[in-house]
Amino acid sequence: MPPPRVIGHRGAAGHAPENTLAGLRRAAALGVRWVEFDVKLSRDGHPILFHDQDLERTTNGRGPVAATDLADLRRLDAGAWFGAAYRGEPIPTLDEALAALAAHGLGANVEIKPCPGRAAETAEIVVRQLRAAWPAGLPPPLVSSFDEAALAVARDLAPELDRALIVGAVPADWPARLERLGCGALHCGHRDLTAATAAAVTAAGITLRCFTVNTRTRAETLFAWGAASVFSDRPDRLL
Ligand code: G3P
Ligand code: MG
Repeated sequence: MPPPRVIGHRGAAGHAPENTLAGLRRAAALGVRWVEFDVKLSRDGHPILFHDQDLERTTNGRGPVAATDLADLRRLDAGAWFGAAYRGEPIPTLDEALAALAAHGLGANVEIKPCPGRAAETAEIVVRQLRAAWPAGLPPPLVSSFDEAALAVARDLAPELDRALIVGAVPADWPARLERLGCGALHCGHRDLTAATAAAVTAAGITLRCFTVNTRTRAETLFAWGAASVFSDRPDRLL
C-alpha cells in the first residue's frame, strides 16, 4: 500500500506538538493514514523523535540534542510550548512511536534527521530498529533524509526499504543524486517547484511528494502537476 495523498507532517504539527505521541494520536483522530516524523540520536545513541538540533524551541530544555543523554531528554516537556493541554508531553523514543503507529494503524515516513557529524551512526541505528521492530500489519515504512550520507547507509543496510531524498528546491542534478542513492522518490519544498520540474521528475518514473502544504488550493495545484502526496501540518484541510 503506497503512502496516501495526504501525509501528516511531524504528526499533525498544526494541531498538536510536533514529533510527539499526542501528535500521532491526533493525526489518526483527524483521519490521516500516514504520518511523517523526524528521528535523531540522543548523545548516548538512542533514536528519538525530534526536529531541531537544539532543545529550546520545542521543549523546556537548553542546548544541543547531541549533547544530552536520553534520560535527561526524557525529563523535558515537549508539549507545553504548543499549548497548556499538552503540558508534560515527553519526547518520544522511536520504539514508543512504532508502538503508537501500531495502536493507531498509521503508516509512516521516517525522516532521518542526524545531528551534525552523526549521519552514518543515526541511519544505521534507525534502519536496524525499523528492520527489527516494524509493526506487523502496517505498510512498510518509507525512509527519507536531506542527508545523502544517511541515505547511502540506509541503502546499504536495508535495500528493501523504500527511500526518498529530501531537498528544499529541486537541484539541477537530481537524476544523478537519486540514481546514486537508489531513491525512487523525491520530497521537495513546494514553494520553488514549477510545473516543468514536477513533470520532468514524474516523467522519469520518480515519485514526487511536496512539503509543507497547508492549503487545499496549493495541494490541488501540486497534485495536478503530478505530485503523489503532500505533507501537511493541517491535514484535515486537505482530506
Ligand atoms: O520530510 C519532509 C519535511 O519534514 C522536511 O522538512 O524540516 O519539516 O523536516 P522538515
Ligand atoms: Mg521532517
